[in-house]
Amino acid sequence: MAEKDEKSGLIGKNSAPAAPPASLFLFGANGDLVKRLLVPSLYNLRRDGLLAEGTKVYGVDHNANTDEAFAKRLADFIRENSASSSFDDKLWDSFAEGIGYIEGDFLDDGTYEAIAEKIKASGSENAVFYLATAPRFFAEVATRLGKAGLLKESEKGFRRVVIEKPFGSDLKTAQELNACLLKAMSEEQIYRIDHYLGKETVQNILVSRFSNGLFESFWNNHYIDHVQITASEIVGVETRGNFYEGTGTLRDMVPNHLFQLLAMVAMEPPAAFGADAVRGEKAKVVGAIRPWSKEEALANSVRGQYSAGKFNGKDVPGYREEDRVAKDSTTETFVALKVMVDNWRWVGVPFYLRTGKRMSVRDTEIAICFKPAPYAQFRDTEVDRLRPNYLLIQIQPDEGIRFDLQAKRPGPTLEIENVQMGFAYKDFFKMQPSTGYETLVYDCLIGDQTLFQRADNIENGWRAVQPFLDAWKDHAKVEFYPAGDDGPKAAEDFMQKDGRTWHDLG
Ligand code: BG6
Repeated sequence: MAEKDEKSGLIGKNSAPAAPPASLFLFGANGDLVKRLLVPSLYNLRRDGLLAEGTKVYGVDHNANTDEAFAKRLADFIRENSASSSFDDKLWDSFAEGIGYIEGDFLDDGTYEAIAEKIKASGSENAVFYLATAPRFFAEVATRLGKAGLLKESEKGFRRVVIEKPFGSDLKTAQELNACLLKAMSEEQIYRIDHYLGKETVQNILVSRFSNGLFESFWNNHYIDHVQITASEIVGVETRGNFYEGTGTLRDMVPNHLFQLLAMVAMEPPAAFGADAVRGEKAKVVGAIRPWSKEEALANSVRGQYSAGKFNGKDVPGYREEDRVAKDSTTETFVALKVMVDNWRWVGVPFYLRTGKRMSVRDTEIAICFKPAPYAQFRDTEVDRLRPNYLLIQIQPDEGIRFDLQAKRPGPTLEIENVQMGFAYKDFFKMQPSTGYETLVYDCLIGDQTLFQRADNIENGWRAVQPFLDAWKDHAKVEFYPAGDDGPKAAEDFMQKDGRTWHDLG
């Protein structure tokens, strides 16, 4: 089924072989992740010829259900949520032959006995245990899988465990969870997911940096003034009030997604493109983030929370009015942070991170801001009209890369204008509808850990945010911003204090 991209002529994963057959056990089968992302991604892998015939997919959860009813519920959901042309009943029927359901409590030995029987009956010893459960079950399930002997690998088959986020809630709990997992299995069997690494544009950062010699020549503190990493969302917390109250934006977005982006931008070239080399460089660079003192952490951060506002002309509630949120909650729904990476390449280059819910636009981008030209020769040009050059890596939406440059406006007088030079994904590649999980699930099945987080990646991420968590414990003040805005005014002041401004959203 290998396919050339019709438009680009490029050969991508579609030319890859199908993954080896395996049984996948999806713990937390009745949750949202399974129906919204995991099963659709498996179905898409089958569509692309990347999932072996004979692959089995078992939902595992405590609710009573049958194989047929479980498969039907998934089919109904996927059919409803796919573009009308992209759901293929025939393809689904052949895929669904491998779908089953195990009714069982995660804490009951009987559940693990039922799993063992399914593996035995499947004809393949390969198994993946996907923990799409509430985080309190991660350690419990891993320990029980180990005790039941289900994590013993042999020449006949692999045993892998995929863990969703949140991976711990601070450095200590992340370390405890890692220690517990590593008692039950080896690091090579653990696949800690960060779905940002499944995004094509995120993976492309490494390809762009390390396959185009051009970039390396200016990728350092001689030419780069600062870096801004933004993940602006328009969604509010909606039904996730309970989760969000105990989590907040810092934990939800920074040590994982935003630090993945920072690592991709700031890491040194790996000696090879293997999992260990890439993950080693990422761990190093996140480990080089300067640990702020309490005072520095407060001075280098802004916490915000959305209040009632308008989005698309409609009134939307403030965070405190959301379901299962305390009326006087000080949980943050927005953060802006400054971090410094203490190594030769980046010394003196601040990395500003900004992320929030209920902002004005959806925009995940990395803006690399260059130092100004050493001398502005153009007489009569207002200096503040000379904007800095940016290299913009647009992660979503409108995926692409562009330079913001200055150019002469045609005409007899010298007028300088800001222009853009860019590459948009959609102009070069035909992208199949995908969930962003396909690559991650496929890589797990073929045993490639490059896009998964190693224990040290996770712990270094928490180590770098821990000073903010500690400082905010006694200073839980939030700055309000109306829903539909670009964050609190304090975030603008925060940048101005450094003589800089945020790159415009959208
Ligand atoms: C999740 C967070 O990990 O990432 C959510 O828990 C957030 O709160 C989401 O909305 C953002 O992901 P994406 O792919 O929409 O940028």
